[in-house]
Amino acid sequence: MVTRVRSTYDRIAPVYDLMEGMMERKRMHKWRALVWSKVEGNTVLEVGVGTGKNFPYYPAGVEVTAIDYSGKMLARARKKAQIQGIKVRLEQMDAQDLAFPDNTFDIVIAICVFCSVPDPVRGLEEVKRVCKPGGKVVLLEHVLSANKIMAWLMNTVNPVVSTLMGPNINRRTVENVAKSGLKIERVTDLTGIFKLIEARKE
Ligand SMILES: C[S@@+](CC[C@H](N)C(=O)[O-])C[C@H]1O[C@@H](n2cnc3c(N)ncnc32)[C@H](O)[C@@H]1O
Repeated sequence: MVTRVRSTYDRIAPVYDLMEGMMERKRMHKWRALVWSKVEGNTVLEVGVGTGKNFPYYPAGVEVTAIDYSGKMLARARKKAQIQGIKVRLEQMDAQDLAFPDNTFDIVIAICVFCSVPDPVRGLEEVKRVCKPGGKVVLLEHVLSANKIMAWLMNTVNPVVSTLMGPNINRRTVENVAKSGLKIERVTDLTGIFKLIEARKE
């Protein structure tokens, strides 16, 4: 299962930035800025860095470690970091099995990642484990619509979308964050399906 997700992102890595271009110009750039404005502390983990689209939003003076499961997405992030002069430690790693000790980071950030992680609750439990007690977790995720007809449609087309593009469009990520044991502090509706989720490790 993990291999399928990784190979899907390896396959779309060369066209990922192009694919997301319109969404980026319309909305994502504002939302990325909002997410990164929430940074607290000095040590940041970015889960699912992809091609490095968040690099321009990294706040100055913080130490960022960023991981991704796809070697090809990560290769593009490495190149971008070099070109843009971004100081970031990039590592290939599975969010479901993070190779960091407990209580390592002040804050963990992920944008549109837990729609793809095969076992999202396990991934979020790992996020909780590596976050320091009192540390923050900020996620921007699209979730299953609350509208019944839309939800039916999303559930119906999800197998095709996830196979071709990577993400599942029917995840209940707010509920998954709660299941992981993180304490949800705030959920902001950015649109019907895009949520900004702020949580904390107690
Ligand atoms: C939709 S992309 C988002 C990339 C980036 N966060 C952004 O905002 O453009 C999802 C990313 O999550 C990564 N991913 C999926 N499952 C993962 C896992 N189990 N561990 C680490 N990264 C994973 C994919 O390889 C991909 O780069």
